[in-house]
Amino acid sequence: MNIAILTSGGDSSGMNPAIKKFVEVCIYKNYTPYFVYDGLEGLIDGKIKKASFKSVSSIISKGGTIIRSSRSKRWFDKNYRKIAYQNLKKHKIDALIILGGDGSFRALDIFYKEFKIPFMGIPATIDNDISLNEYSIGTDTALNVIRHAIDNIRDTASSFNRAFVIETMGRECGYLALTSAVANGAEMCLIPEVKYNLDNLKKRFLRGIKNGRKYFIAIVAEGVNKTNYIKDWFEKELDFESRITVLGHIQRGGNPTVMERLRAAEFIETALLNIEKIPNKIVTFYKEKFILRELEEILNTPYSLNEKMLFLAKPLMGIER
Ligand code: F6P
Repeated sequence: MNIAILTSGGDSSGMNPAIKKFVEVCIYKNYTPYFVYDGLEGLIDGKIKKASFKSVSSIISKGGTIIRSSRSKRWFDKNYRKIAYQNLKKHKIDALIILGGDGSFRALDIFYKEFKIPFMGIPATIDNDISLNEYSIGTDTALNVIRHAIDNIRDTASSFNRAFVIETMGRECGYLALTSAVANGAEMCLIPEVKYNLDNLKKRFLRGIKNGRKYFIAIVAEGVNKTNYIKDWFEKELDFESRITVLGHIQRGGNPTVMERLRAAEFIETALLNIEKIPNKIVTFYKEKFILRELEEILNTPYSLNEKMLFLAKPLMGIER
């Protein structure tokens, strides 16, 4: 069997360890591994090449994706998908493995329905916003990059009387902000999924200032779209000088953590173990197990954040518990 791997959408650290494991397991199982470069765009442009052990040497410690990625607009046009199919036929590719978010899974699901090229989807996005899946490749490294940044900001914050408003990525999902706020002892956490109460936070912060609090760390998810507002709020409502740090794309890079590499290896093992017997599934990590799911099940289930984490963060959102 000839199997090709591609990475799609926002890259995330951990994609490279997954690509390396893909080549190794394919060769071990007598499959022939192929790379599709540049994600779905590369599928349309025929950027398909046979892979070998040599192609993946020394990549396990690197962030990003050596086969690169893209967000493809052309994929929405069936004529381009037909070209992609012809490219795959030219190289006799029997199945695809895609690393990305649910948009990327949907892209290959449509493709399967039209051209019958089986696929397996592996969650890979720092946003960690896929339903019925508690871990996406890239999440742990991004959380550690954020942790490192907040540790550094805390050094300067504790040397001044200031509030630091730190914006994390995640699109409409507050996972990175929520987890980081709890893990890094922030005073404030605002995420798109929860209605926060600034009046309650103000009362608590004023009590804190009275009792000697000298600085604040506020984590605001990009999806809240209130980073500048919160900076001004600290200045107007609490008379606290304030600074903004937008962490931005540094969250997408960095050497994959140990957990990242281990999970990446297991996602790939599970995908390749099942690709012949039960293809067209998404490999999810749920309650400490790797579970194959139908894309429909994922798309029909609203994404929800971890209840325990939400409970821990309630005071940081100004919510009573
Ligand atoms: O989906 C991953 C992500 O990093 C989001 O958190 C962010 O909103 C977006 O991608 C940024 O996209 P781009 O790299 O295209 O600017």
